[in-house]
Amino acid sequence: MDRIRIGLIGLGTIGTGVAKTLLENTALLEQRLGFSLELTSIADIDIEKDRGIAIPRDMLTTDAYSLINSPDIDIIVELIGGIEPARSFILDALKSGKHVVTANKALLASKGKELFDAAQTYGKDLYYEASVGGGVPIIKALRESLVANNFIFIYGILNGTCNFILTEMNEKGSTFEDTLKAAQEFGYAEANPAMDIEGIDSAHKLAIITSLAYGVPPDMSGIYVEGITNLSTLDVGYARELGYKVKLLAHAIDRGDRVEARVHPTLVPFNYLLSKVDGVFNAFYVRGDIVDSTLFYGRGAGMMPTASAVVSDIADIGRNILAGIAGRIPHLGYRKDLPRPKRYMPIDDITTNYYLRIQVLDKPGVLAKIAGILGERDISIVSVIQKGVLMNGYVSIVMLTHEARESDIRKAVDTIEALDEVGGKPVVIRVEDKNLKKNS
Ligand code: HSE
Repeated sequence: MDRIRIGLIGLGTIGTGVAKTLLENTALLEQRLGFSLELTSIADIDIEKDRGIAIPRDMLTTDAYSLINSPDIDIIVELIGGIEPARSFILDALKSGKHVVTANKALLASKGKELFDAAQTYGKDLYYEASVGGGVPIIKALRESLVANNFIFIYGILNGTCNFILTEMNEKGSTFEDTLKAAQEFGYAEANPAMDIEGIDSAHKLAIITSLAYGVPPDMSGIYVEGITNLSTLDVGYARELGYKVKLLAHAIDRGDRVEARVHPTLVPFNYLLSKVDGVFNAFYVRGDIVDSTLFYGRGAGMMPTASAVVSDIADIGRNILAGIAGRIPHLGYRKDLPRPKRYMPIDDITTNYYLRIQVLDKPGVLAKIAGILGERDISIVSVIQKGVLMNGYVSIVMLTHEARESDIRKAVDTIEALDEVGGKPVVIRVEDKNLKKNS
């Protein structure tokens, strides 16, 4: 039986899951593939630590380059994360004739162009299913299964840690800090959890998704990012009263010659499927012009779901190697020699609905002043409620707006904040609700 030899760099949570899968599901993989996936060597800076699986000692090394330069390895699997030395490992592996599998979304979002160009130059495959959505096969779906479609939009819950935190805040009123600690203990959070809660991990994944869907290069500077650190349980509660859950939602939307790409807390109506995606689960709601609506759902983080995606890439590359082909599918979905004129849309130009919470002194005329400022900017109010007395005589006015332009909302909110009767910075959360759009 033919065999494909694999060198694994990085024996952390995901690396251990990959090793476990290759060592334990060997027979199943052989039955499905008709060749064997042989884990030849593993490199990690710590080869003493007990990873909870039986790995033959002679498979382990601290020298990643002994794998990268080995003539006895066909595929290098990079699972160390971060930019360097991961970038150099991948470039050098491609140069030395290896195909590469990675789960490294931060690297692809920032250096994707360089890496995919190198893969093309050296005639090798660079696969990355595990970089987005953990075990959910969204890369293959967008790039291959839905190849016939113009993507009207893709909405995604892309970060398990944030979704877990928001679910706990929404259902149990738990504090942000306690929930984050639990997410770290479960192994969902990034090594630096700020990447999760500041929305950066979601933005890395959105850069890859936007690129695949619309043919723009992965570019973090084109993506608007707001995390969940400033979100209060008060707003999560008011949103619930209004019929919404707060989700950290990633948006990729076709706007003709421009693409909207943004990640931020978003009010999602209870009757949307995405509002039912709770805990560590991820989901992608994809609308194509041919297929219409599709939903992809599954575990977006964790050892074994992510390993499932990594091993699928290894299997695909193994098939390519034995068929004597590489580069059969453009890495980012589009032929590079056929230009795509789309550009990222600046956040100021987007239009959507908004939730506003403004702390005001409870006296006559304040609401009229605020409504006037919004009206001057062409911002129309859908509904307004006043919530009970807060400390120091302030009350909260909670509003939902019809569709408005982001730049108008920002200017109006600055003017409102400067009013004497207003205490503190107004809270602005974007809303994704097709019923509000229809009536505007
Ligand atoms: N920290 C990520 C998450 C893991 O919480 O979704 C997968 O990228």
